[in-house]
Amino acid sequence: MNVLVLGSGGREHALAWKIAESPLCDKVYIAPGNAGTKNVGVNLPVDLDDFYSIGKMVIEYDIDLLLVGPEAPLVGGIRDYFLQRKELSSIPVIGPGKKAAMLEGSKDFAKAFMHKYQIPAAASATFQKENFEDGLAYLERLTPPYVLKADGLAAGKGVLIIDDLEQAKDELSKMINESKFGEASAKVVIEEFLDGIELSVFVLTDGIHYKMLPEAKDYKRIGEGDTGLNTGGMGSVSPVPFASKEFLDKIERKIVQPTIEGLKNEGLDYRGFIFFGLIKVGDEPYVIEYNCRMGDPEAESVIPRIKSDLLELFAAVGNQSLDTIEIEFEHRYAATVMIVSGGYPEKYSKGKLITIPDNLTNCIVFHSGTTVDIETGLIKTSGGRVIAVTSYGRNMKDALENAYANSKHIDFKGKYYRKDIGFDLENKDDV
Ligand code: AMP
Ligand code: GLY
Repeated sequence: MNVLVLGSGGREHALAWKIAESPLCDKVYIAPGNAGTKNVGVNLPVDLDDFYSIGKMVIEYDIDLLLVGPEAPLVGGIRDYFLQRKELSSIPVIGPGKKAAMLEGSKDFAKAFMHKYQIPAAASATFQKENFEDGLAYLERLTPPYVLKADGLAAGKGVLIIDDLEQAKDELSKMINESKFGEASAKVVIEEFLDGIELSVFVLTDGIHYKMLPEAKDYKRIGEGDTGLNTGGMGSVSPVPFASKEFLDKIERKIVQPTIEGLKNEGLDYRGFIFFGLIKVGDEPYVIEYNCRMGDPEAESVIPRIKSDLLELFAAVGNQSLDTIEIEFEHRYAATVMIVSGGYPEKYSKGKLITIPDNLTNCIVFHSGTTVDIETGLIKTSGGRVIAVTSYGRNMKDALENAYANSKHIDFKGKYYRKDIGFDLENKDDV
């Protein structure tokens, strides 16, 4: 099979790396890809919102399966586009259609879905210009901190958690009346604050059946001790020590199964990954958010823990036969450390020369924001998150030690990484 992976981050490098290992894989293409994906396949330049050019590419390169890495093309309806074009309609697209992708693309849609199917989630209500005053009154009835979420995609910045009531009211006004997050905050979901510890659970579904994938925990803040600004993610670990078998079974029963049943009931033919952003409050799981794709940097620790042939699983998603496949996992822990550009997630510079020694051991290097300089052939930084270093270990500590031992040797001017990934899990069970 020839496979086209859309995207250019560490997640897509991890997915392409795993697909390239499959005996079913003839060629893997990554569009647009990065300097690292060149080592596992062929990069093809494209704009991810240019569905026409992606379709042309699929025909020209004789692609048998399209895997969509990031959310934007899914929320934009790439799957629907393929289904509508006669010459593309038989190509399996891994990723949901436009309507189902609203689970990520609209917080209001996602909350309505959770409420309808009694999926545990924070109590909430949605407000817009027409009922702005009701939003202020709703805030008054809540206890702090106040959680305000822009309804639409806002590049991971659309959630505000505010301690002060007056400030929360002010922000609600900025979001709704002054388009703080553009069109994305025309509607705002206000919800009850849940106090607990977060984890990410992933499922691959063919619309009828599903497979649970290894869970992970990511570290979103730039600073050690989970301080400072939110980022795309500074590291991840899998499995999550506090996620016992009983707790994961509860997640499957109370959250995963009703979600799959709900999608079926809504007539949404969901084929792809579902990412459940969860929070454990006491012993109970609640959904914080749905994403319609794998996480990044969760994919960099989750994908290496899948022993089975990922391409065989994707082919089964395409023809709705996931139930015929046994999925096997790697029992070792995996840990990922994200090396980022100095200044990220605020202003940072690009084009810094990266050195990656040839003799790194006990790690997999997934590229994120990297590019090959056309003139020199050297690898340079091209984004905030630059390189993800993943290592296995007997336990979480061991995996992290291996990842850190290697992260030290990868170099570029201004490089930064958190030294405390997993810090909050150290005293938890079976580490
Ligand atoms: P989201 O973009 O929905 O993932 O939200 C970003 C982050 O805000 C989450 O990862 C949580 O840390 C936090 N968050 C969102 N909703 C809540 C909530 N209801 N209670 C507590 N924290 C929340
Ligand atoms: N790491 C969180 C995300 O991919 O959204």
